Amino acid sequence: MDEYSRKTGFAELADRRFSLRRYGAKPVPAEAFAQCLEAARRAPSACNSQPWHFIVVQDPERRRELAELTVPPGGVMNGFVADSPALVAIVAERPNIASQIGAALKNKPFYLIDIGIAAEHFCLQATDLGLGTCMIGWFAEKKTRHLLGIPSGKRPVLLITLGYPPEGSLRDAEKHSRRKDLHAIASAERYGNPVQY
Ligand SMILES: Cc1cc2nc3c(=O)[nH]c(=O)nc-3n(C[C@H](O)[C@H](O)[C@H](O)COP(=O)(O)O)c2cc1C
Repeated sequence: MDEYSRKTGFAELADRRFSLRRYGAKPVPAEAFAQCLEAARRAPSACNSQPWHFIVVQDPERRRELAELTVPPGGVMNGFVADSPALVAIVAERPNIASQIGAALKNKPFYLIDIGIAAEHFCLQATDLGLGTCMIGWFAEKKTRHLLGIPSGKRPVLLITLGYPPEGSLRDAEKHSRRKDLHAIASAERYGNPVQY
């Protein structure tokens, strides 16, 4: 029994998703984009505001330029982004008025929470299709806006790399990042009271 066979359905999928940072050249089929975008479209959002817009970037030159914007000057971070055969930029759209009022009254950026959920829906669907993803929060925002023709006043807040691993299956490429212990992240009834599972 391998490590996945103990888990089934959603638990197995959540376990299988990880940030893929090595990509092969195999292109992403159009149907996969459609399914991942549909999964993102289904995500919940505060006041059903759906404050997101997805830009799929596959053109090699545009992709190269966008990948460059994710690498800090003189930095080593995000070098792998250039190898990803597709990038998806998520642009924050103006939330509806109910969400704006709620966010102001509760001092909580609901739109960012919404976009995070939609992004994870996208990534989980990609995982289910055998594709790898990595969310990229570090990129030059202004230049990205210019490169992708995003109207001024709208912010690109997240990029997602999308593609297949260089060889073999996503499962072979798997690399789990460590997670905090359950007891460190969950309490029973009151903060700090240990859970019993
Ligand atoms: C909002 C956000 C921004 C991220 N930005 C980057 C990034 O710029 N570069 C990168 O390599 N990984 C980035 N990541 C991926 C995280 O490093 C990764 O999810 C985390 O280390 C856990 O590993 P896992 O995704 O493999 O489980 C980002 C993840 C999130 C959720």
